[in-house]
Amino acid sequence: MANIVIVGTQWGDEGKGKIVDLLAETADMVVRFQGGNNAGHTMVVGGEQFICHLIPSGILQQKTCVIGNGVVVDPAVLLAEMDALDSRGIDVGSHRLLICEKAHLIMPYHRSVDHAREKFKGDKKIGTTGRGIGPAYEDKATRRGIRFLDLLDPEVFSEKVNTILDEKNFYLKNYLSAETLDPKQIIVQYQDYARRLAPHITNISVVIDTAIKNNQQVMFEGAQGTHLDIDHGTYPFVTSSNTVAGNACSGAGIGPKQINDVIGIVKAYTTRVGQGPFPSELFDDIGDRIQEKGAEFGATTGRRRRCGWLDIVLLRNAVRLNGLTGLAITKLDVLDGLESVKICTGYDYNGKQMLDFPASLKVLGDCQPIYETLPGWSENLSGIRRFEDLPENVESYLNRIETLIQTPIDIISVGPDRDQTIVIRNPFK
Ligand code: GDP
Ligand code: IMO
Ligand code: MG
Repeated sequence: MANIVIVGTQWGDEGKGKIVDLLAETADMVVRFQGGNNAGHTMVVGGEQFICHLIPSGILQQKTCVIGNGVVVDPAVLLAEMDALDSRGIDVGSHRLLICEKAHLIMPYHRSVDHAREKFKGDKKIGTTGRGIGPAYEDKATRRGIRFLDLLDPEVFSEKVNTILDEKNFYLKNYLSAETLDPKQIIVQYQDYARRLAPHITNISVVIDTAIKNNQQVMFEGAQGTHLDIDHGTYPFVTSSNTVAGNACSGAGIGPKQINDVIGIVKAYTTRVGQGPFPSELFDDIGDRIQEKGAEFGATTGRRRRCGWLDIVLLRNAVRLNGLTGLAITKLDVLDGLESVKICTGYDYNGKQMLDFPASLKVLGDCQPIYETLPGWSENLSGIRRFEDLPENVESYLNRIETLIQTPIDIISVGPDRDQTIVIRNPFK
């Protein structure tokens, strides 16, 4: 029996949804522990695509799906997602989908503040997803967030909304020059959400603990990526939660000794949506080609993702910060047909080689990537299902990654579909 954490190693969109969906076959429970509907996790089964923003990617395999206390939840988005899955024949009943009573709600004023602030900042903006994530975590930290527990108590909920809106409306109107909001409307709307979501709301720490005691296998599904972590990422161009594996514990209410393996999802190249530094970014035809072949558009906002070569400095940082025990390399097929492929093995900072990812954005901005060039491959990888059938140059690329970051590759993905995968070691088995 094992409990594993899945995290993104780069700047998000590494293919976490695909790998979680695949591994969910051997899991009993899948738990989201941070982030919110800034995430967009894509699963493709038999050519049919599903994108989840809040519901864990174990839902298609019909496992118990849990939204942990560390997640910030926009109930309108959650309900729309539940309805969409339900209409496609996927069961999202209250025995299947559980929400932690301690999880914080994203409120309409969080979305308004997120949008207005980005507009206000102009070219200094972060490039957020505009889903109210930062403002919701901000209220959680300043101890005036509203939790699912409060939603279940109409009196407490109304009082909290009325109190906080006084201040939010003042800030929206006088500082951000944005529209104010009507508390009555919010209260009525959220009471409707409460009626629908009440059967799903519970103490998930107890639920997960009971599952583990009954020898069930639990998978903790990270959102975003290591370099979007509020502490360890490219601050301030980050999200507002801890995205690293350690947060699976506090974001789900379990202890660190319950985790057996931590799998890092690595896209075979690098992408980033929104602003912020990106040392191995490509501004040439190869970058465009990767962007097109990889269909690199955000699953949440539809924005074009910036593309670049694989960055080992970034990955080494992710191995250490998450304690990675294995890797899943995704989108290898996107590199098909390139004459050569490059790996950034270090940064040149003022003539000195830098192997550790710098915390200072000023330093990072002055870092030039040092590349190692490997031969590409002309074969189409998307139909390959066995490691032995991979072209020699692909094996060399993978071996080089393993050597450089000293972490074994457990899974190789060669296409978006669940079955376009080569599993070398299933961490659950
Ligand atoms: P996540 O946020 O980490 O779950 O990743 P996203 O779903 O935002 O983005 C990954 C995109 O790549 C999705 O469109 C997936 O369907 C797709 N994808 C995942 N793995 C592969 C792969 O191995 N090859 C190709 N071509 N596409 C993949
Ligand atoms: P998944 O789980 C990629 C980025 C945004 C922005 C920054 C802050 O699908 O990998 P936020 O709305 O969180 O305040 O935005 O973080 N971002 C993501 N980028 N994938 C994600 O999630 C992301 N979630 C947030 O683009 O740069
Ligand atoms: Mg995504």
